[in-house]
Amino acid sequence: MSRFSQYVNDLFIWNEQMRQFLQSEQVEQDTELWHQLDEFSELIESINQELSTEQLLSLQAKAERIHQQMEYYFSRKQGMGVGTIWTEERQLSPGGHTLPELPYAYNELEPYISEEIMRLHHDKHHRSYVNGLNKAEQSLKKARETQDYSLIKHWSRELAFHGSGHYLHSIFWNNMNPNGGGQPKGVLQGEMNRYFGSTYAFKKQFSEAAKQVEGAGWALLVWSPMAGHLEILQSERHMLLTQWSVVPLLVLDVWEHAYYLQYKNNRADYVDNFWNIVYWHDVEMRLEKALDKRPGI
Ligand SMILES: [Fe+2]
Repeated sequence: MSRFSQYVNDLFIWNEQMRQFLQSEQVEQDTELWHQLDEFSELIESINQELSTEQLLSLQAKAERIHQQMEYYFSRKQGMGVGTIWTEERQLSPGGHTLPELPYAYNELEPYISEEIMRLHHDKHHRSYVNGLNKAEQSLKKARETQDYSLIKHWSRELAFHGSGHYLHSIFWNNMNPNGGGQPKGVLQGEMNRYFGSTYAFKKQFSEAAKQVEGAGWALLVWSPMAGHLEILQSERHMLLTQWSVVPLLVLDVWEHAYYLQYKNNRADYVDNFWNIVYWHDVEMRLEKALDKRPGI
């Protein structure tokens, strides 16, 4: 795929994400934003040949204009003078998670998933993850304030279990749609072909991974930024003390092989000394890259 067609593909995906965002925000169909997006969709769908640099720049300018208008629209809607359409999502305080609306009605995935399941799954199960995550975050806030970390193992487990439950379900609902099905397109199809060989091979492995998860859990298609390719993983239950969808910034290896030869069983000294060598510049760089990532993805 050439650099140009890659760019048009990216625009196509961006356009689709913007449409889904307007839908999830329940923006009425007759607003100017929808007209602009509809026009933009027609424009990029009609592209069937290599574009000149000028034409590409004009497309890019149009996309940027739409994005600015969206920011303006949502900053007004949220009563904020400045910021971006993502600002609200970026600044959740401890215990500030809420159950997201489904992007479709409970019965709209029928006959594949029944209304009864969807209602129970979203309103009962997902809600309890949100409540559990809020409680864990608030309890850990209290632990910081009182410096009482006697229950840190318990709350860290709760944080991982409910956090992963909330984040994965939030992704899961949007991964499905009454208008779904068919085949992947664009960059996604390209990456699947590059790594798995074909869409068929990907679907086969993903289905097998899902069917063979030990007990309860998930199958996940993930992007590995370090490897630069897609991957399929299984997750037993939700976690193993992690929260899916988060980005690691600073990590400390506390396997014995990391300290035993020098510190023997005194892990605490090793941890305390770690702060003498932490390279904050690297942590900052990782945070900056993570902030570039659109929340919700
Ligand atoms: Fe679930």
